[in-house]
Amino acid sequence: MNTDFRNANIVVLTGAGISAASGLSTFRDQGGLWDKYPVEDIASPEGYRRDPELVESFYNARRAQLDAPDVAPNTAHFALAKLEQEHQGRLFLVTQNVDDLHERAGSNQILHMHGELRKACCPVTMQPFFMSQPFAADNLCQCCDQPQRLRPNIVWFGEMPIGMGQIERAITECDLFISIGTSGTVYPAAGFMRLAKAFGAKAIDINLEPSYSSPFDTHLQGCATQQVPKVVESILSGEPIE
Ligand code: APR
Repeated sequence: MNTDFRNANIVVLTGAGISAASGLSTFRDQGGLWDKYPVEDIASPEGYRRDPELVESFYNARRAQLDAPDVAPNTAHFALAKLEQEHQGRLFLVTQNVDDLHERAGSNQILHMHGELRKACCPVTMQPFFMSQPFAADNLCQCCDQPQRLRPNIVWFGEMPIGMGQIERAITECDLFISIGTSGTVYPAAGFMRLAKAFGAKAIDINLEPSYSSPFDTHLQGCATQQVPKVVESILSGEPIE
């Protein structure tokens, strides 16, 4: 296996596990968000149509949590920001996360394929924009003749993820695919590793638990805060990733 990735094209996929050490709940770990809230009520267009107040209260609470004093980027987020700044090859960071911890750690090029908590969008134009006030019935768009109730800029189950063309192009051109803190249960993200390997990339999985899929070339079991900085140092120094 090639071990010098100093000039490699790298794709990094992050999931909720990278933000766990920052105090944000994952979805499917014990006590995770989907243990507490029924997905179909909270994260689907049908659920939103049925009870927009319930959905708004869920996302307003998660937005408020981002401003909590004890919620901040961790060493894994900072390591990826360092990789963006110092890596000689291309780096494409795609995240399933809707928090803003990658941005707050200093990463600039991030594709949020499931949307962003800090943004709202008009349900008609689907144009996203940063919004500070909470979601509410009287929080209306300004882009339609009949102003519409603004919705969370979140990709719900059954909706099309954001940026799939860009993501697929980056994956088919990469030499190294690194998955960090995801259970690999939700497509299309769950299929990215196999696509990368089909185009000749090496694939690494960083996860607290055993890997979700055997074809990974390397599985680094442990907390992202420990593993990601080590992997970044190996990449920048041309040392083997192990
Ligand atoms: N370090 C590394 N990995 C961790 C850590 C940690 N500190 N803590 C948890 N993990 C791992 C878990 O072992 C699990 O494999 O992170 C993963 C979290 O899995 P999920 O909760 O399923 O989150 P994720 O994979 O991001 O979910 C994907 O599902 O519901 C949708 O839209 C939602 O984007 C989300 C998508």
